[in-house]
Amino acid sequence: MKLSRREVVKLGLGTGASLVLGWRPAFGQAPSLILRAIPSSGETVPAVGIGTRDYRVGPSSSERAPFKATLKAFAELGGTVLDTAPSYGNAESVVGDLIAELGIRDALFLATKVDREGRQQGLDRMQSSMRLLRTDKIDLIQVHNLRDSDTQLATLREWKQQGRIRYLGVTTSSGRQYERLDGIMERETLDFVQINYSLASRRAADRLLPLAADRGIAVLVNLPYGRGRLFRRVGERPLPDWAAEIDCTSWGQVFLKYVISHPAVTCAIPGTTKDYHAVDNMGAARGRLPDEGLRRRMEQLYDSLPE
Ligand SMILES: NC(=O)c1ccc[n+]([C@@H]2O[C@H](COP(=O)([O-])OP(=O)(O)OC[C@H]3O[C@@H](n4cnc5c(N)ncnc54)[C@H](OP(=O)(O)O)[C@@H]3O)[C@@H](O)[C@H]2O)c1
Repeated sequence: MKLSRREVVKLGLGTGASLVLGWRPAFGQAPSLILRAIPSSGETVPAVGIGTRDYRVGPSSSERAPFKATLKAFAELGGTVLDTAPSYGNAESVVGDLIAELGIRDALFLATKVDREGRQQGLDRMQSSMRLLRTDKIDLIQVHNLRDSDTQLATLREWKQQGRIRYLGVTTSSGRQYERLDGIMERETLDFVQINYSLASRRAADRLLPLAADRGIAVLVNLPYGRGRLFRRVGERPLPDWAAEIDCTSWGQVFLKYVISHPAVTCAIPGTTKDYHAVDNMGAARGRLPDEGLRRRMEQLYDSLPE
């Protein structure tokens, strides 16, 4: 019997996840999670996390059930890095409620953002994040899309000293901001940078990813699926034979393994609202990764497909 991913998840994550993730219990333990060190501290995090840009949902438990199941599956599979933002509708409040209900706050590496002009507005926004996420310590706050970065980074440094956050950083998902980001990475002491990088958008690898490695800055990768564009491009094509060589059972895992095999990348944060996608995505945090040669073949294959 061939099970759909959804059915596999329903069976329970112990056996089900191992089937989806491409190994069988009879053949022993699942490969261990791929962990990456944050350069500024040495602390490790799994190489795949989760994005919550689409966690905009009403208050009823029936509406929220799929989101709760997704976060539960993510955490049960060892996922920790969760990225959110005050500008994602009511996502911070949804995430805060659900992780409290699931009792997983302490197991997570919680990342959010600040997106305001001016010191007081930034402070108000960050205090609101703390309240909505229902925590007194946020692991990482990032200046969203570099907005008023000088002012906000100054506040973030104070918060880090006071122990209210553990790490600080900046984000972008637009090539138009790369030059400015480059300057900030050169000038400032950052723990993290968050940037878009995928088989479809490889520009970050030209200069910013190597710069992050040189400067000892951890890298979170947003838009690893180009908001779903990568799936549309491969369509119904079967996986290439080489996918098995890197323990991939889905296109999603191929796309994520391309991202996390870049030596400067700390963690990819695919956005998902589906438990079976969280299981699929966490499958990319285990097993073998492509070498340089295979990474080139992945790029060639992707580029050869019609847009
Ligand atoms: N400037 C910034 O700071 C910035 C900008 C953009 C994004 N971000 C962060 O990065 C995260 C990721 O970006 P994103 O969510 O916009 O885009 P993305 O991760 O590139 O793609 C998300 C899309 O892929 C689908 N998906 C996820 N896993 C899948 C799987 N295994 N198989 C098939 N489809 C799958 C999701 O649908 P389902 O929900 O149905 O799974 C969703 O439609 C965001 O959630 C956010 O936290 C930050």
